[in-house]
Amino acid sequence: MGELMSRTQVLAQLRGASPAILPSMLQCDFGNLRAEVSALEQAGAVALHLDVMDGHFVPNLTYGLTLVKAFRSLTTLPLDVHLMISNPEDYLEQYVAAGADMVSIHVEAVSDARPLLRKLRDLGCLASLAFNPETPLEKVENCLEDCDAVLIMSVNPGFGGQEFQPVALEKLRHLRQKLDENVLLEVDGGVNEHTIGDCQAAGADLFVVGSGIFSGEDYSARLEHLNRYLTEAGRH
Ligand code: DX5
Ligand code: ZN
Repeated sequence: MGELMSRTQVLAQLRGASPAILPSMLQCDFGNLRAEVSALEQAGAVALHLDVMDGHFVPNLTYGLTLVKAFRSLTTLPLDVHLMISNPEDYLEQYVAAGADMVSIHVEAVSDARPLLRKLRDLGCLASLAFNPETPLEKVENCLEDCDAVLIMSVNPGFGGQEFQPVALEKLRHLRQKLDENVLLEVDGGVNEHTIGDCQAAGADLFVVGSGIFSGEDYSARLEHLNRYLTEAGRH
């Protein structure tokens, strides 16, 4: 296994790799994690997206620090940890220590996201701000200078396999125009062959895909298929 990377190296790698599909591990075979991670590495995944849910901020409970550590022990790919939890401020150090390279906190979960984003950067982690489909852009706008990435939810967080909400496209377009081009735009939820092209055209760099990968057994074929809908045109 190779060396783990610094914050700036991870950022450069993700920027360089974009447009890139990030497998959401929510629907992987947790009884066979080593094989799952290895198959995704061989399929060319550039990072893994880990969905942490607490049964409180969202009506579903998944996994937490133990599984993030397990993924860390299995791969040097960047780990993109999506915290769908209340009180994320209580856990940032622990998720970074567990091996997160990028952490997304939800703007709906905190009164002021800025100190948390700054803390993530101070901890050597990429700072990302996530927001739900019904959350207005104004809620995130005053935090953008503290973000390495913005995670635009295109479904209500909690479950895989939901239908893409087109409101995410407007938000992507707006943010792409407004933001420094170095800030990564990531879209999450219902991203598949029917929606991924529109997301790229609207300005997304990183595309989180769960069902679109794990509904099949051949992850290389799934990624190759979805990649056909992405152009290599780079920035928009
Ligand atoms: C939803 C999660 C997503 C989810 C995406 O709350 O944040 O990452 O796994 O799954 P699909 O691609 O099936 O919508
Ligand atoms: Zn997610």
